[in-house]
Amino acid sequence: MAVYPVRRGRRIRSTKRIRTLVAEAHLSVDDFIYPLFVTRAKHMQKEIQSMPGCYQESIDYAVADAQEASELGIPAVILFGIPETKDATGTDAYSETGVVQEAARQIKNKVKDLLVITDLCMCEYTSHGHCGIVEGGDVNNDKTLEYLSRIAVAQAKAGADIVAPSGMMDGMVQAIRKGLDNNGFYNTPIMSYAAKYASSFYGPFRDAAESSPQFGDRRAYQMDYRNAREAVNEVLTDIEEGADIVMIKPALSYLDVIYRVKNITNVPVAAYNVSGEYSIIKAAARLGWLDEQSAMMEVLYSIKRAGADMILTYFAKQAAKELRKLADDKF
Ligand code: PBG
Repeated sequence: MAVYPVRRGRRIRSTKRIRTLVAEAHLSVDDFIYPLFVTRAKHMQKEIQSMPGCYQESIDYAVADAQEASELGIPAVILFGIPETKDATGTDAYSETGVVQEAARQIKNKVKDLLVITDLCMCEYTSHGHCGIVEGGDVNNDKTLEYLSRIAVAQAKAGADIVAPSGMMDGMVQAIRKGLDNNGFYNTPIMSYAAKYASSFYGPFRDAAESSPQFGDRRAYQMDYRNAREAVNEVLTDIEEGADIVMIKPALSYLDVIYRVKNITNVPVAAYNVSGEYSIIKAAARLGWLDEQSAMMEVLYSIKRAGADMILTYFAKQAAKELRKLADDKF
């Protein structure tokens, strides 16, 4: 390759036009999945303190929120439920009348053409806040699988277009695939949280979903942030079990993992730009320490550049509006 002065890197950076022409990564509203936190309350929308612009909301508000997302061109929402009552087996998660099932039915009914993804986990529904059935102070993997399969079927029956297991149980994708197939839902895709790390960046989400573990932590099932090759194993295992889409979570401290996974698989790769990653930008912007809009875009582009095909992000609506604005800006 030629070097200076024959080569001048600045030639292809000199105008907005040429920068756009040579841009490697592309971000579009088609890439976004917008998370919603649905409660049983009646006609209520309460802002989550640590996540400005995000709400715990009743189903009617969630429908309106989903409608707005759809009008902005966002193709999918992912639903998290905050049940009225929690118990040891997380009954609301698999009940036909559970909060997420009810919300899925209503959104599918009222918002045309929007994909409804359901987070498939037990931690928001269990009294102990762990992602499965607890026995002797630990989550019993194999007993939990039966419940995950039941939850998947309840969600599919309620109209979920895609189920997204997030509990990091071994064999979860296989158990869910079997449960769905046995009930005629062989066409319902599984988006697996394949490589989900035990992360402090979930802090604000746990406030939002009221899902903090009541004892211990999740390090006996979520991954250790020192490992990346292990993530490749987790992803390959999930694909073998039938995952249609694999997810890396969180996104920003794990861009290397997204990159590796994209290089070794041919299934779509999703990345979850998690609550803490959202909150740090919101907080710094409030303090006047950085520019919110441009920090948001830089982060989202970095996730695309790393190889993500889609991004779950609380910024979805805000970024959709920003993308429109940028497209309208004259060269
Ligand atoms: C578990 C789940 C979590 C998130 C999504 N699904 C939290 C956890 O594992 O404690 C975190 C999402 C975020 O932080 O934005 N059901």
